[in-house]
Amino acid sequence: MLGSFRLANLSTPAKVLVTAFLALIGVGYLIGVRNIFEHHTEADLKPGLTVDDLRRNYHGMDAEVTADSRAHSPSIMEQMVRPGGPMRKFLEKGGEPAVRSLTAWLESGSDESAFTQAALREPGDPSAQRVIGRQCVRCHNATDGEMADVPYAQSVLDEPEYALVMSVAAPLGGKPTPESKSMRLAPIGRPELVQVTHAHIMAIPVFTLIVGGLFLLTGVPDRLKAVLVPLPMLVLCADFASWWLARMIEPFIYVIAAAGAVFGLAFGTQILCIVYSLWFGKRTADSRLQ
Ligand code: HEC
Repeated sequence: MLGSFRLANLSTPAKVLVTAFLALIGVGYLIGVRNIFEHHTEADLKPGLTVDDLRRNYHGMDAEVTADSRAHSPSIMEQMVRPGGPMRKFLEKGGEPAVRSLTAWLESGSDESAFTQAALREPGDPSAQRVIGRQCVRCHNATDGEMADVPYAQSVLDEPEYALVMSVAAPLGGKPTPESKSMRLAPIGRPELVQVTHAHIMAIPVFTLIVGGLFLLTGVPDRLKAVLVPLPMLVLCADFASWWLARMIEPFIYVIAAAGAVFGLAFGTQILCIVYSLWFGKRTADSRLQ
């Protein structure tokens, strides 16, 4: 169908178009890889990206939790009130002292003795209990709150109770203690995985197809093309399927790891071959696409 047409036969504007597209896709891919490092390295409560991070995210695992790992496993409340967290805006309504006070209490390990203590970080700051009472109990109360199922006080009129608050404020790795203990780390939730799968499946195969199609038009020998053209797409199928299979069958995490590596190599090779063919490849005689 495409006959002898090669990328080198494209007009210069078309070559610039394709090159700019590949540059964007290439940078986008590298940012994606960077994103994995930023967001997944601590899934196993340890710094550094290892196969255990995949194990935790896609299958779940038992881990030794030490004093050291607490810093890597903030409580649910800490995650919700961090900058960018969904509850941050409610906390900020209390002003800087409220933000400072609740953050200080959560970061120090959410102790009962410090719960009612004012001025944890700076003189004049309210106690964590008071901040939660003012900013959160409106919705998080057992009587008529929008979030009655995660209450911090019995009603809007009552003081927040430490035991209620601790259901979400306890550091996930336990209190910072010198001795370590074992705990089960669950994989990412099913709804999150549905969302992540959906987002990836709708996007990645599209540019994989475009790049694969361009690669067909390079001067790479046909035998090599026979392997390299379909490889990235096949690897994507294995990758996405393994995200789900690994929930039940642990060894599929190795398929995920291998798929990532093979995809990167094959895709990178395709892009480099395309750029080379565009600008340095041989033109074929008959066709020139304007
Ligand atoms: C206007 C109502 C409202 C206020 C005020 C509010 N929340 Fe929430 N909160 C919600 C809703 C709704 C959810 C569930 C939806 C979500 O996760 O975004 C929620 C969820 C949470 C969760 C997660 C609960 C869980 O078990 O997953 C935490 C923790 C939390 N809020 C903490 C706070 C803190 C701390 C404050 C005060 C700084 C606060 N909220 C103020 C409505 C509120």
